[in-house]
Amino acid sequence: MSFALKYAPTRLDDVVIGSQTLKNRLSDYINDRDLKPLILHGGVGTGKTTIANLLPDAIESKKAEVTRLKAVEFNSINDVIQAFGDQTMFYQVFTINDQKRNYIISNEINFTPKAAIAFRDVIDDMIGHTQFIFTTNYIDQVDIALRDRSNCLAVPPVTAKDWLSRAQWILQQEGIALPDDQLLKVLSAQLQISSSNRKLLERLEDFVRSVRNPPSNPGGIIELAPIPEPINPLMAA
Ligand SMILES: Nc1ncnc2c1ncn2[C@@H]1O[C@H](COP(=O)(O)OP(=O)(O)OP(=O)(O)O)[C@@H](O)[C@H]1O
Ligand SMILES: [Mg+2]
Repeated sequence: MSFALKYAPTRLDDVVIGSQTLKNRLSDYINDRDLKPLILHGGVGTGKTTIANLLPDAIESKKAEVTRLKAVEFNSINDVIQAFGDQTMFYQVFTINDQKRNYIISNEINFTPKAAIAFRDVIDDMIGHTQFIFTTNYIDQVDIALRDRSNCLAVPPVTAKDWLSRAQWILQQEGIALPDDQLLKVLSAQLQISSSNRKLLERLEDFVRSVRNPPSNPGGIIELAPIPEPINPLMAA
């Protein structure tokens, strides 16, 4: 199993977050201080979908039921009406599973302009009881009125230092011990190439593989260097 799957965070606390602003704003949601739709935006692989998936559990303090939308379904006003026509009524009266709120998560939100306008009404009807969480790589392309109704929160790239303790934990799970400064070098080198944490986990996986199977020695057999003969000064004379 790839490291991105094997070591995918299972709780919000596992997610490597460098930005204090992001941490504070997520705490606002967890502590019921903010109920506006949330749009998590940023570069590829920074953890937007992971945060979107784990935030409802953190708000509910238990595994939360969520509804996931596929943006491709929203090409017309009819698509929006079909998806939400009944649900707006349903959600106004009930929450699933005795939850504080209902949750609707959507990765990418490229509605056609008409569908986006219909969606504004849906948001206005549901905002009191339903937490919308969107993720996108392209915040500029999100409907301006949806942005206006939402909190747009950047999920910025993290630093090698931010990753250090989780990366050490991962290496520990793999039975590998590496001093912090050496691990920091591996992490920084990768983060200079890409700010994707998905790619960082791939790099860590390669690293673990190379420690187990050094490249110069594909069979993994440890070759001992020939031990030099001790020099006998009498013989040399
Ligand atoms: N901040 C993070 N902390 C820990 N692991 C992370 C983090 N971000 C990403 N990952 C790892 O990378 C994988 C992909 O992350 P995720 O899908 O959340 O990124 P994304 O920002 O939604 O990417 P995209 O922009 O491609 O949609 C996760 O399963 C997880 O293993
Ligand atoms: Mg994503």
